[in-house]
Amino acid sequence: MKKFGLIGHPVGHSMSAVMHAEAFRILDLPHKYELIDVRQEELGEFMKSAGDYSGLNVTIPHKVSVIGYLDELSREAELVGAVNTVKIESRKKGYNTDGIGCVRALEEMDVDAKGMKVLVLGAGGAARAILFQLALEGAKLTIANRTRDKGVELASSVKDKTGINVDAMALDEKSLKAAILEADILINATSVGMHPKGEETPVRKSLLNKDLVVMDLVYNPLETRLLKDAREVGCSTIDGVGMLVHQGAESLRILLGVEPPVAAMRKAVVSKLSD
Ligand SMILES: NC(=O)c1ccc[n+]([C@@H]2O[C@H](COP(=O)([O-])OP(=O)(O)OC[C@H]3O[C@@H](n4cnc5c(N)ncnc54)[C@H](OP(=O)(O)O)[C@@H]3O)[C@@H](O)[C@H]2O)c1
Repeated sequence: MKKFGLIGHPVGHSMSAVMHAEAFRILDLPHKYELIDVRQEELGEFMKSAGDYSGLNVTIPHKVSVIGYLDELSREAELVGAVNTVKIESRKKGYNTDGIGCVRALEEMDVDAKGMKVLVLGAGGAARAILFQLALEGAKLTIANRTRDKGVELASSVKDKTGINVDAMALDEKSLKAAILEADILINATSVGMHPKGEETPVRKSLLNKDLVVMDLVYNPLETRLLKDAREVGCSTIDGVGMLVHQGAESLRILLGVEPPVAAMRKAVVSKLSD
């Protein structure tokens, strides 16, 4: 039996435990998965004794600060500057599977990001993780963020580290209208539309067109206002559980070297969300 866990603060509402417990059950593995509430000031002490665990998932507020306690980083974690998975053997290695989770969710809908024009709304932690991965996949990227300077900074960080050019613009109606006409894929990586403000959307319905693939990283509600509008317009839509489950699945591949039961993990998350 191996022990795994999620560290964060708070960790009560996390979907990680549900997903991993279901994966262990389906794969008939005896492992345990714990939710470990670790405050910022407790992180150093916790990481010193983390050898009891074979692996950890990491969430807010530790995704960046945990790096100070690791021996090694994967290329993705190094690029993004944040970690969501730690493999613990004689050394501790940090990974970031959020970006690949997004790419796998696109692939599941037969969407290959290579050469696609992708408009990403937002410049926070989630946007950062997916932008680096989409750049590595060969997508043509534009960031639209409410605070334009943050978007510009993120675009130049991606350019500096990957050599791939990323455009940045404000998240206003006029810029959005022009950018959406150009885009193949629209990804909402802002928190707009998240429960309890489920009636909000970052993009007015009249700006959408049926040729777009629309993905929302917000997964509560499962069908956001943006996704509902997009479905009604005739777009292909991908909900936030896609990325959530695929980042967890990738983390299991890293920690255990197993092929995760993605469909069952998704079912467990969707059922938990509708509790
Ligand atoms: N599906 C998944 O696996 C997954 C993974 C991670 C995150 N998420 C979801 O993704 C969302 C973003 O998470 P995060 O960690 O990136 O959060 P974050 O770091 O706090 O960033 C929030 C982003 O949303 C923008 N924003 C917030 N309120 C806005 C508003 N009223 N109008 C326009 N823009 C607004 C912010 O713009 P400013 O820069 O202007 O403040 C910023 O770009 C959350 O809903 C989270 O649950 C999903």
